[in-house]
Amino acid sequence: MGEKEIKLKEINFDTPIDLIINNNKIPLKFQHCNFENYIPNKEYPSQQEVKERLITFVKSLEEYNKSKCCETIVKRLFKKNSKPKNIYIDGGFGVGKTHLLSSIGNAYSGKSIFVSFSELMYLIAYFNLLPLVEKMSQFDVVLLDEFELDDPGDAMMGINFIREISNTDTVVVTTSNTTPVALGGRKFDLMLFKERIGKFVNYFNTYAIDGKDYRVTKAPKTEYDSSKKTLKDLFNEYETKNRKKLYVSFDELINKMKEIHPARYVNFNENIDAIFIENLRKFTDDELLDALRFTYLIDILYYGSVDIFISTDIQLWDMFSEDLKDGKFKNKIMRCLSRISEKGVFVKTHDIDS
Ligand SMILES: Nc1ncnc2c1ncn2[C@@H]1O[C@H](COP(=O)(O)OP(=O)(O)OP(=O)(O)O)[C@@H](O)[C@H]1O
Ligand SMILES: [Mg+2]
Repeated sequence: MGEKEIKLKEINFDTPIDLIINNNKIPLKFQHCNFENYIPNKEYPSQQEVKERLITFVKSLEEYNKSKCCETIVKRLFKKNSKPKNIYIDGGFGVGKTHLLSSIGNAYSGKSIFVSFSELMYLIAYFNLLPLVEKMSQFDVVLLDEFELDDPGDAMMGINFIREISNTDTVVVTTSNTTPVALGGRKFDLMLFKERIGKFVNYFNTYAIDGKDYRVTKAPKTEYDSSKKTLKDLFNEYETKNRKKLYVSFDELINKMKEIHPARYVNFNENIDAIFIENLRKFTDDELLDALRFTYLIDILYYGSVDIFISTDIQLWDMFSEDLKDGKFKNKIMRCLSRISEKGVFVKTHDIDS
């Protein structure tokens, strides 16, 4: 095996999760993002407005944290340097929400942490809410990407997290595709849930960004490899950059994901520039958890700018059953399909065999 290759069993997934939290920086894909290279579309004035508000937010956060250390009780009473309010950035797919969120982290000189909502769910499950809040409160700002409210249980956990962290000096900036006001009413009838959502709104300044999906015009599209190359050929030809390349069968990957805690999947990104997944197949009806873990893995690889190559004899769209695509995890599934299609190159298995 060349030294550019790595086997699944060679990837170290044992990194202590505390270390994962401490190292949680802006994902590779968004590391270059800043306010300067976010170019607002003039057709949608909200883009420029939100950018300016976020720049102002970073300034007030800097001031707040400078003043905090030498704040007297009197000052605190008069709220001279009050804590900036949390921010909720709302907008459609691909309008640049994560780009702006990352720009905050890149512009701010103090301590920030970037986590996706799914990651936060796994971290809460691992540490429990209050110990996690304590760990997160060492950061001045939590950049929480993709707040999801599809699943009432997860939504509630997210809201509880916001409530608890709001009692500390830490500020949260989050992104989502749904405005907090629209959430409860549209999807769930539970009175309690609505009540909590009501309070949730008050924790935030909500900024809405309009616009078209930036990826549609700028990002590369899914390719079906039309040459007669096999996945192995593509693997052998692939030039790594500063990480390695991994060749793995779909079932081997699914089994590995069962074994390790999802909070540790991020170790893939430390190790690989590209993953080559052989014989992707449809998830069966009793593989819901595997399917969800797979969508989470794709989110992680997407953030880590890992190239994805797949061989399969099905259409990508068919890997999840119709029930799943239409059920309560619809958003996760659709995001996964959209992200694989942004990143993935496919080789059809039957082309190889014929
Ligand atoms: N106005 C912009 N100027 C420069 N680059 C942009 C702009 N808007 C988006 N991009 C780029 O387009 C890609 C998609 O943007 P981004 O991921 O931030 O969108 P998003 O709103 O978070 O989408 P999603 O809802 O799917 O998470 C990124 O690579 C981002 O850097
Ligand atoms: Mg995003």
